[in-house]
Amino acid sequence: MLKLVNTAVDESRQGEAYSVNAIVFSDNTKRFFIESYGCAMNFSDSEIIASILQGEGYAPTPHEEEADLIFLNTCSIREKAELTVRKRLTEFRKLKRSRPSMLIGILGCMAERLKSKLLEEEKLVDIVVGPDAYRSLPSLITEAESGTKAVNVLLSREETYADISPVRLNSNGISAFVSIMRGCNNMCTFCVVPFTRGRERSRDVSSILSECQALFQQGFKEVTLLGQNVDSYYWVDPTTNHPVDFAMLLERVASIDPLLRVRFSTSHPKDITDKVLYTMNAFDNICKYIHLPLQSGSSRVLQLMNRTYTREWYLAKVKRIKEIMPDCAISADIIAGFCTETDQDHRDTIDVMQRSEYEFSYMFIYSERPGTLAAKRYTDDIPDDVKKKRLAEIVSIQNNLSLESNKKDIGKIVEVIIEGDSKRSNQQWMGRNSQNKVTVFDKVDDENIHIGSYVHVLVKSCTQGTLLGTIVDLPLTKK
Ligand code: 5AD
Ligand code: SF4
Repeated sequence: MLKLVNTAVDESRQGEAYSVNAIVFSDNTKRFFIESYGCAMNFSDSEIIASILQGEGYAPTPHEEEADLIFLNTCSIREKAELTVRKRLTEFRKLKRSRPSMLIGILGCMAERLKSKLLEEEKLVDIVVGPDAYRSLPSLITEAESGTKAVNVLLSREETYADISPVRLNSNGISAFVSIMRGCNNMCTFCVVPFTRGRERSRDVSSILSECQALFQQGFKEVTLLGQNVDSYYWVDPTTNHPVDFAMLLERVASIDPLLRVRFSTSHPKDITDKVLYTMNAFDNICKYIHLPLQSGSSRVLQLMNRTYTREWYLAKVKRIKEIMPDCAISADIIAGFCTETDQDHRDTIDVMQRSEYEFSYMFIYSERPGTLAAKRYTDDIPDDVKKKRLAEIVSIQNNLSLESNKKDIGKIVEVIIEGDSKRSNQQWMGRNSQNKVTVFDKVDDENIHIGSYVHVLVKSCTQGTLLGTIVDLPLTKK
């Protein structure tokens, strides 16, 4: 007999490890513990892995010390992510000394890159499984139990796990990730993803729709459609022979129910179309928020990065988004200190940031990744202190932009879905508005208003990261 107990709501999961829902055992079921690093795609993959393991009779546990299987779902995108995982592995090794039957596995992007090193040289793990090989986990576990080192890092051109219903981990029961495609064909020169996650492939449209419908029926209010490059989603419906592009997919998901909010990530500036923008505009329940990575504001650096657009193209895209949806929030990924970046290139990045008036950004120092095109072609020649100084400047510019953007919302009424208690006080709720801004407001004593409810919030003040307000009694179109 198993009893699931929900753990706390996690307001920001980017780059964080998390463990599964708490669980109370009254039998000797085998247990797995899984910790995820990196992008939303990895967190979503962990839910597929949990489903595969549950199918084999394993149950999740949030306590590593009672697990029979420990999995780290890893990220290779920057060196720091890899270092964190290595540190965790050493801790798990110590745990294994007191429980030798425990198996430790590395999943995800580091698996492909470091398989032989982790297995043979450092003897840190028993199982290594790449992002396209999770279906082989049960047989690999059996192999590892018999004392053989178990590895499968084969990449696939077809695998989308379309038929697997993810087991929602650490879920607030309100918002869920839905993977719509895997891999990436873009070959940005700095990026390891095309090597660790393989070629791009889209998931069957009907399986995406069924997953979203099922989530809505279970009470979820928001889905985020995930892919490395969602705008190149493309699926030919075998029953009708009609192709489905990303705009059409968005429309179909948004049509499930007006009460189901739809978000998506990530867009590529070269691929996002007017058709997508018009579809977003046509549906109230498609959130007015686009994550549009910039990487650099210098056309010269963009070319070295193989981003296939110029600063002018990027700025024209931002202008188009605002023309079609003036209230649309935009966020970016920005890399400081890419190979050969000059002070002028850096100033060009800041200039694009200011012109684009981003609501948020994810900002990184360039980290050379072995095997990437940049590592082969260019020298990582920007000194660390210069990279850090440039990053600090970019962060400070973004902080100002975020604050200015939030200040403009003071006096507005925003629609929010209540996701849980705010981080600071259990007397307050938090949720996000359509623009993905975290909004915090006092709880009210009304049985119709609870986690999962749509509420209107009058914004009264703000910080750089949060809108602060009070619930107002407006006739709600949504309950
Ligand atoms: N160094 C620093 N940042 C990187 N990213 C990808 N590869 C690297 C790298 N080698 C950033 C990009 C990407 C985001 C997910 O991570 O900005 O959009
Ligand atoms: Fe990496 Fe570029 Fe693909 Fe994004 S679009 S995953 S940055 S190669």
